Amino acid sequence: MSNRVRMGMVGGGPGAFIGAIHRFAARLDGEIELVCGAFSSSAEKSKSMAEELSLDPARCYASYSDMMAGEAALPQSQRMEFVSIVTPNHMHFPVAKAALQAGFAVLSDKPATLDVKEARALRKIVEKSGKAYGLTHTYLGYPLVGEARGIIEAGGIGEVRKVYVEYIQGWLATPIETKQADWRTDPKRSGGSGCMGDIGTHAHNLAEFMTGKRMTHVAADLTTFVEGRRLDDDGSCLFRMEDGVKGTLSASQICVGKENSLSIRIYGEIGGLEWRQEEPNTLIRTYADRPTEILRAAQGYLSEGAQDGFRTPPGHPEGYLEAFANVYLDFARALRSGGGVVTGIEGGVRGMAFVEALLKSSAKHSKWVEIK
Ligand SMILES: NC(=O)c1ccc[n+]([C@@H]2O[C@H](COP(=O)([O-])OP(=O)(O)OC[C@H]3O[C@@H](n4cnc5c(N)ncnc54)[C@H](O)[C@@H]3O)[C@@H](O)[C@H]2O)c1
Repeated sequence: MSNRVRMGMVGGGPGAFIGAIHRFAARLDGEIELVCGAFSSSAEKSKSMAEELSLDPARCYASYSDMMAGEAALPQSQRMEFVSIVTPNHMHFPVAKAALQAGFAVLSDKPATLDVKEARALRKIVEKSGKAYGLTHTYLGYPLVGEARGIIEAGGIGEVRKVYVEYIQGWLATPIETKQADWRTDPKRSGGSGCMGDIGTHAHNLAEFMTGKRMTHVAADLTTFVEGRRLDDDGSCLFRMEDGVKGTLSASQICVGKENSLSIRIYGEIGGLEWRQEEPNTLIRTYADRPTEILRAAQGYLSEGAQDGFRTPPGHPEGYLEAFANVYLDFARALRSGGGVVTGIEGGVRGMAFVEALLKSSAKHSKWVEIK
């Protein structure tokens, strides 16, 4: 019998964006197998997705609750081990709750929940279940992001002082009507924030991961530029982190022509680091007294951990799918070894508390607000 980790999926039906990416990522290294799914809120669409994926029809379910019950009734050696959640945000909490309570681990897409109240409730459920819970903050899967974190941890840039993180896109610059835009601009399905919940949470997570510091306070200015839209489509904040680190974070979905421009620059007492998601195989390291270094993917001079994250030799570019696959691989191995996950429920709660603080601050004319 295969020793692959058995995965079920909720969401990711016909026409969905991220579900298919998750499925590619999960199977890239051959350690995970998709065994069941409830791919859509429509039973018919779920069935057609299962057919496209050649899944056993008996394990294609009409709803996520049917899936939890159906899988729990199977012998342990056959039933799924974890559920990948790739639905719009409002379904993250109910699906994660049902999965954990039925005895399954959860790997959910971000943001963890609709709001911080739900995130705290989910934390209790995770703790009670004793099951693993992870979030697919994809960008932490890039090996050079891990390399940067390692350099900072080892004191390579000295005490961190300043962080600039920016995540800008242009696809919501006009009132478009796609499946993806529809729920992202609806407070009931997206949460209290549009842009910040959707991509600001990635920027927050990346800044905390790379520096190893928690963000503690924000002074934010959120805007809805497109007329009639119900949630912010742009925002910036000043932030403070532990140990006196200061920074700025900008996220926007109205920057015409921008695709997926996530970038971060971090400066310490003796050096700096710069990384851009659209050029993910380069990490720039700056010094006060030496020329700037350009670190490149898969090179032997990188740390062992970073080298392990690549699948192809130097000069053969890797990208989004491989980063996503690294997140899946880490999670699958954590399940097998009982080890920790990269972004777990604590990171999820912090992400939602960050969004709540932004909303409060922006509503109070950008007053400083503590992230609680
Ligand atoms: N990690 C990343 O980089 C990244 C990138 C894009 C999206 N996301 C996140 O992924 C999630 C999905 O985003 P998307 O753009 O793929 O959305 P989407 O609208 O393209 O797809 C959502 C899918 O969920 C299904 N669904 C909705 N309700 C359901 C239910 N009750 N049961 C089963 N399936 C249901 C829909 O039918 C659809 O197939 C969001 O939470 C989003 O924030 C993360």
